[in-house]
Amino acid sequence: TGLQLDTVSSTTPSRNSPPPPQFDTPTFLMCAPQWYDVDYVINPWMAGNLHRLNRDLAFAQWRELHRQLQLIADVRLIPAVQGSPDMVFVGHTAVVQHGVAAVSSFAHPERRVEEQPVRRWLKDHGFLLWETPRETAFEGEGDALFDANGKLLWAAHGVRTCLQCHRHLAQAWHLPVVSLHLVDPRFYHLDTCFAPLSGGHLMYFPDAFDAASRVAIENAYPEEKRIAVNEEEATAFACNVINIGETVLMHKVSSDLSRRLGRLGFDVVQIDLSEFLKGGGSAKSLVLRLSDIQLQAEIAS
Ligand code: ARG
Repeated sequence: TGLQLDTVSSTTPSRNSPPPPQFDTPTFLMCAPQWYDVDYVINPWMAGNLHRLNRDLAFAQWRELHRQLQLIADVRLIPAVQGSPDMVFVGHTAVVQHGVAAVSSFAHPERRVEEQPVRRWLKDHGFLLWETPRETAFEGEGDALFDANGKLLWAAHGVRTCLQCHRHLAQAWHLPVVSLHLVDPRFYHLDTCFAPLSGGHLMYFPDAFDAASRVAIENAYPEEKRIAVNEEEATAFACNVINIGETVLMHKVSSDLSRRLGRLGFDVVQIDLSEFLKGGGSAKSLVLRLSDIQLQAEIAS
């Protein structure tokens, strides 16, 4: 089956189609954790953590991330839905650029319940919906990340997202897509092991990729721009960061990595996100970018 462009376009305004969104500040969507839980196991991190969350702590950690993000960006909220315990990881529900939202087709039925509320929210806020075919799983910013200048899309396959859907993504923005193959089940989403940063930097965990993917990455980012993290850092979700300009919001990280980032001009803000690590995610997975990636790329250095 082909693609469906659900047109809520500026050329056909009606009562039901709000104007396309325009942002002059980096803007993100978040979803509060009132229904967050580890109710099932769909990634290795969730195993052993079934119903072992501290909900008050999760809420406090999420609020702190929300507070820190609000200091440097606009934050919108989508209401949490009962029965969607992973919806707090709203970054996996879509990829947005230029007001077009490629919406996810989750690999696991447990997360498909998140698709409809997010699709509705995006549509109600004026985004054009780019549907990806049901039979080719696609998990939003979990597996598709723009480079910092928005000229290229990095898309992963191997665990959740299918290789076949990468070309559908390419069509949404008419941009080149580079496919990367994930080979370690602990790093089941691209955003667990790969983070394009402002200033043309890339933070990544090389062992999460096959050899050909590592070559593609190394060809795109010169050595002085690559920040390779080690296994200990990677398993603390060091690559699952929110980067706006020189600020990097992340879970607690080794002092060595924080120093390396500091030397490159980044201002690292560490937030304890332990309760979300139990579900298999960290800072980056808890937000969905709504504004264009280029808005957050500038770095003073
Ligand atoms: N439980 C969610 C899932 O497995 C967690 C997602 C967090 N993802 C991430 N890329 N860090 O889908």
